[in-house]
Amino acid sequence: MAVEITADMIIHDVVTKYPQTVKVFQGHGLPCTACQVGARESVAGGARTHRLSLEPLLADLNRVANGQEAEGIRPATKAPVGRGIQLNVLGGGAAAATGPKIRHIIAVMSGKGGVGKSLVTGLLAASLQRQGLSVGILDGDITGPSIAKEFGVRKSPSKGPNGIDPAHTQGGIKVISMNMFLPNSTDPVTWRGPMVSSAIKQFYSDVDWGKLDFLLVDLPPGTSDAPMTVMQSLPLDGVVIVSSPQMLATEIVMKCIKMVQTMKGKVIGVVENMAYLTMPDGSRNEIFGPSNGADLVVMTGAPLLAQLPIDPEIAMLCDAGKLEEYHSEAYDTLAENFVKALKIAGQRA
Ligand SMILES: Nc1ncnc2c1ncn2[C@@H]1O[C@H](COP(=O)(O)OP(=O)(O)OP(=O)(O)O)[C@@H](O)[C@H]1O
Ligand SMILES: [Mg+2]
Repeated sequence: MAVEITADMIIHDVVTKYPQTVKVFQGHGLPCTACQVGARESVAGGARTHRLSLEPLLADLNRVANGQEAEGIRPATKAPVGRGIQLNVLGGGAAAATGPKIRHIIAVMSGKGGVGKSLVTGLLAASLQRQGLSVGILDGDITGPSIAKEFGVRKSPSKGPNGIDPAHTQGGIKVISMNMFLPNSTDPVTWRGPMVSSAIKQFYSDVDWGKLDFLLVDLPPGTSDAPMTVMQSLPLDGVVIVSSPQMLATEIVMKCIKMVQTMKGKVIGVVENMAYLTMPDGSRNEIFGPSNGADLVVMTGAPLLAQLPIDPEIAMLCDAGKLEEYHSEAYDTLAENFVKALKIAGQRA
């Protein structure tokens, strides 16, 4: 009996059952098969999102599923592998459709990798949540996501009436992270920049965030696709920059600050992470060198929100997915200063 693929079938189901149709989707300019979010769309929905004609796509899908050659596929060299999923963030997604329910959107960034952006994002979120605020985290590190792991969240995405349901941490923080979309958390995401950008936009516009006081966006290191997308496409209030004492020497943090300024963003504040280690006798050992907090303040014109110590317990809780169990005065101070700085930054506008 001849196979029949219809418009209401889910892309993921189609390509699972008929793997040969992947090239049809891609050839027609629909990269959803590579995207765990988009693949949950129907064939008609995917075609609509990418402004494609449904009929030729369906015709080719059916031809190929039935062992024939496709007709409407463009040459492989033009396959839009890197074009990503086009989304009109302001116009069409769940968040936009139901009005602005997120009070503040803040990105956490740093020019350099491994300075503690994800940790600061996670602990800042936890501190704000403990103060009775509602908080979400959008893990903008698509290729190296760590937020779901920090909170021990491993929920496969499901679609509710208003969009993709985010996961909830034990403390009630809403989380969306690429890891939640991967069959195995060790699977790599081998996407080029535009695909990464599209996923970030979808995480914002297609997720049912509900009402939030804060949406924190954890960014990957550097100043390219992901930070640019976040700064250009999301209605950001501003950026928190994370630094560590030794990195100033490399001028990397300055690149990051200049990028924010060039893109007309606002630095809400700066966090100096790994500033010191508390020794058994209570003294502070500045193992990465003396604090550069004052320089950071001069460079950004924004306040130093906190100097955070190195604490081995953090790494342990992160690995165990129990970051919310970490309590420290330094992080509560960070959250308090952050809220104050946000108000001041608003007045600077
Ligand atoms: N203050 C700290 N005390 C102890 N461990 C820390 C501290 N800050 C960060 N770490 C640990 O250092 C590692 C890197 O931190 P994290 O993943 O937050 O950095 P990142 O800047 O987000 O990295 P990437 O650039 O790869 O996204 C993690 O294992 C984290 O648990
Ligand atoms: Mg990170």
